Amino acid sequence: METAEIRRRWLSFFESKGHTVVPSAPLIHEDPNLLFVNAGMVPFKPYFLGQETPPYPRATSVQKCVRTGDIDEVGKTSRHGTFFQMNGNFSFGDYFKQGAIEMAWELLTSSVDKGGYGLDPERLWATVYLDDDEAVDIWREVIGLPEERIVRRGMADNFWSMGVPGPCGPCSEIFYDRGPAYGAEGGPAVDEDRYMEIWNLVFMQNERGEGTGKADFPIIGDLPKKSIDTGMGLERIASVLQGVDNMYEIDEVFPVLAKAAEMTGKEYGTRSGHAAGTSHPDDVHLRVVADHVRSSLMLIGDGVTPGNEGRGYVLRRMLRRAVRAMRLLGYDDPALPHLLPVSMERMSQSYPELRENFDRISAIAYAEEVAFRRTLAQGTTILDNAVNATKSAGGSTLSGSQAFTLHDTYGFPIDLTLEMAAEQGLEVDREGFTRLMQEQRERAKADARAKKAGHANTEVWRDLRALGATDWIAYDTLTTEATVIGLVRDGAQVAELEPGQTGQVVLDRSCFYAESGGQIADEGVITADGVRMRVRDVQRPVKGLVVHTVEVIDGPVRVGEQALAEVDPQWRVEACQAHSGTHVVHAALREVLGPTALQSGSYNKPGYLRLDFAWNQALSPETRSEIEEVANLAVRDDLPVSAQWMSLPDAKAWGALALFGETYGEDVRVIEIGGPWSRELCGGTHVRRSSQVGTITLTGESSVGSGVRRVEAFVGMEALRYLARERAIVHELSGLVNASSGELTDRIGDMITRLKDAEKEIARLHREQVLAAAGSLTDAAKDVAGTTFVGHHAAGASADDVRQMVLDTRGRLGEERPVVVAVTGDADDRPVIVIATNQSARDAGTKAGTLVKVAAKVLGGGGGGKPDIAQGGGQDATAVNDALKAVEEKLAGA
Ligand code: SER
Repeated sequence: METAEIRRRWLSFFESKGHTVVPSAPLIHEDPNLLFVNAGMVPFKPYFLGQETPPYPRATSVQKCVRTGDIDEVGKTSRHGTFFQMNGNFSFGDYFKQGAIEMAWELLTSSVDKGGYGLDPERLWATVYLDDDEAVDIWREVIGLPEERIVRRGMADNFWSMGVPGPCGPCSEIFYDRGPAYGAEGGPAVDEDRYMEIWNLVFMQNERGEGTGKADFPIIGDLPKKSIDTGMGLERIASVLQGVDNMYEIDEVFPVLAKAAEMTGKEYGTRSGHAAGTSHPDDVHLRVVADHVRSSLMLIGDGVTPGNEGRGYVLRRMLRRAVRAMRLLGYDDPALPHLLPVSMERMSQSYPELRENFDRISAIAYAEEVAFRRTLAQGTTILDNAVNATKSAGGSTLSGSQAFTLHDTYGFPIDLTLEMAAEQGLEVDREGFTRLMQEQRERAKADARAKKAGHANTEVWRDLRALGATDWIAYDTLTTEATVIGLVRDGAQVAELEPGQTGQVVLDRSCFYAESGGQIADEGVITADGVRMRVRDVQRPVKGLVVHTVEVIDGPVRVGEQALAEVDPQWRVEACQAHSGTHVVHAALREVLGPTALQSGSYNKPGYLRLDFAWNQALSPETRSEIEEVANLAVRDDLPVSAQWMSLPDAKAWGALALFGETYGEDVRVIEIGGPWSRELCGGTHVRRSSQVGTITLTGESSVGSGVRRVEAFVGMEALRYLARERAIVHELSGLVNASSGELTDRIGDMITRLKDAEKEIARLHREQVLAAAGSLTDAAKDVAGTTFVGHHAAGASADDVRQMVLDTRGRLGEERPVVVAVTGDADDRPVIVIATNQSARDAGTKAGTLVKVAAKVLGGGGGGKPDIAQGGGQDATAVNDALKAVEEKLAGA
C-alpha cells in the first residue's frame, strides 16, 4: 500500500468517526520551547491545557515532524529518521481510553477491502503503564487481546510528555511482530526491532513541569479534561504494509536512495543481513543521504534557511551530512541537483506546494552544497599544513586541538580528518578532540539554560490570560481607556509598580501594536491619575494576551486603576511607512528578479526596513537601482492599501504570498497594495495609500547565508535625512579636491592613479638605495674560523630588502672561500634575519637553516629554510646585534 494511500485511509477512517480533518501545521511553530514540531499534538497543545477552546471535540491530522536528537544514529539502525509524518487522532475531553483503543484496533485489523490496514491480530501486542488496570481491562475484555501479549512497562516507556513542560499522561503502545527473522521472541521488552512500535495512544490527563529525560519531572496538576493524543509514525506503518525492512525503503524515501546508489555505483543491502544488527557502511551512507535529502527538502519548504545556529544549523548539518555521505560513497561532483528533484517528485504527491516552490527550495539547497564544497577544499589545505607540520616536527599524531579547530572553524568533519590523516600515516588525538567537543557542548548547554530562564515563567502569563483575552484594537485607534488588570515585576505578579521601576502592565484593552511579523512594538505612554508610564516594548507571550513593558515615571500604579493608553502617533505613522515599505520593496524585488525572490525574513521599525530573500548572487548596482526605481514608482502611483480577512485557502487562491508559519483553520489577514501587485498575509500596521510611504532609498545589499540575500532601506523622512547626509559628504569632498560634484569621480580617480605612481617611484628609489648600501657590505667582511663572514644590521629594512642585500653580497664575495652573509632588518619594529651561504661553505658543512635558528632564538621567534638561504624573525627588535653576534659565535665554534 503506497504511503499516500495509507495517509488517505487514516484521515477518512477518523473522519467517518466524527473527527475534523486538520491540515498539517508548518514544521516551525510558535512554541518557543521547540525547534521544530516534533509530534502530531503540538498544534493542539493549547486545547489540551485548556488555554483555548477547541473548535471541535475530535480532530485528526497527518503532521509533518522533525526530530534531530538522534541525528548521528540515522541509517545505522532502522528506527531513526529525522523527518517523519505522524498520523494522529485527538479527543479534547470527548472519548477517552476505551474509544481510542477500540478505534485503533478497528483500523489496524479491518481488512484492506473494508478500508483498514488489514494487519494480522495475532501479531499485535500492547504495552500499558504500570498501574493502568483500566487500559489492561479494555485490551483484555473489550478487544480480547490475550493476557500474555499485554505488557506493563514503567515511566520511561509508557508515560508520554513533550520533553518540556506541557500536557502529558500514561500511554498504551501497540507493537507489530515482524517475525523471527528480526530477532528473539518474547515481546517488546525483549526486542524492539522484531516487535516494532507502530502506534502510541496517550491518555492525556496531567501537566508536567521542568525536568530532564523521560521520567524525571514533577507532575504539577491535572488537565481540565481527560483527552486523547495518538501518534502513528506514517513511515513505520508504511514499512510494515509495504513489506520492507525500514523507513528508508518505503516508496516515499527509497527512490532517493536508489538514485544515490546509481550515481555512486554501489549496490544497496547486499552485504549484510538485517538480523545481524549492523549494516555495511555504504548502506548507512545511502540511508543518510535518503533521509537527510528529504528532511532538508521539507525544512526549506517550510521556510528554514541554512545558518549557524538554531533551526538553520540543523538544516545546514543535514545538507552537509548528505553531501559528505555522497563523497564517502565516492561521488565528488555536486550531488544535490540529482537527488533533491527525486525527493520532490515523491513528496509533492502529499505536499503539492513543494513543486510550486521548488525553484526557491532548490536554489537554497544547491547554494549550500557549493558553500560546503568550498569549505572542504579550504579545510583540506589546512589539514595538509597541519599534517606537514606534525611530520616535520617528527610527530605521528595530529593534536586534538588541531582536529577541533578544523571542525569548529572550518566545518571540517572529524571522520574526514581521521580518514585523511590516516592516509598520510598519522593518527589523531581523538581523546583530546572529544574533550574539546565536550567542553564546547557544555558551554552551549549553559548558554541554552540561561536563554531558557530568560523566557520567563509562562505560568504568570497564563494566570493573567485566564482573566480573559486582551481586547486588542491596534488597527482601529491610537488611544483608548483601559483598566489595569495585572502588574508583573521580575516574572511575578505584584500589586503595584513604583516610580523608577520597570515592569509589565496588562490592560483589559490595548491599542499598542505588539511586536510580530518583523514589525517592532509601538512606543507611547500609559497614564492614570497621578501615574505616567513610558511603554518600551509590547509582546504577546501567550495567545490573546498583550503585555506592555513599561518604565514608571510617576506613580505608583496599582492593579484596578483606570488608565489611558496612547500610542505615540508619529511613531505609528513611521512604523506604518516602514512596514508598507517592506511590502513595496518585496513586490519590487519580485518584479525585477522574478517570483523566486521570495522573502524569508524581515524587520522594520520607524524609518528603516530590511528584508531577506531567496537569491544566490550579489545584486549589481544597476539591478539595485532598478529595484529602487520600481519601488518608488509604486509610491508615486499612490496605490490603495487595504486589509482583508479571509480563509487561508481563499487567500492562497487569491495569490496572496503566504510566508511561513501561518495557522490553519483561522481566518488570515491579507494586505493588498495596488490590487494583485502586492498581496501578502500580514498582521502588521500599514499606511492607507502607497504615497504615504514617502521616499524609499536602498542603502545596502549583502549575503546572510547561502542562497539568502539582504536588502536594507531607509523610508520616509529617514530616507531624506540619509540622502541629505550623503549630499553633505559630496559637498565636502568637492571642496577638498576643488571639483564640482560632476567632476568628483574623475578627479579622485586621477588622484589615486598619481598616488599609486608616486608610491611605485618611491619603492624603486628605496631599492636602489638598498643595493647601493649592499655594495659596501663586502668591506665589512671578516674572517671567522676560516669563513668569510658578513654580519650587518640594516636599520628600517624590510624582509625583501634584507634578502636582496644578502644575495647581492654573497654574489660579490665569490666562491674562492667559504662565505656566510647574515643581515638583519627591523621594518615596522619586527626583527627579521636572512642568512646565505656559498657552495664552499656548504661543502664545509655550514648550513644557513641551522644558523638562522640560532639567530631567531635570540630574537624571540623562529625560522628555517634551506642550507643555502634561510629566513627567521622574532619579537625583540633591540636584539638584532646580539643575534648577529650569536651567528658569528656559532661559526667560530664550528
Ligand atoms: N504524542 C505522542 C507521540 O508523539 C502520540 O502522538 O508519541
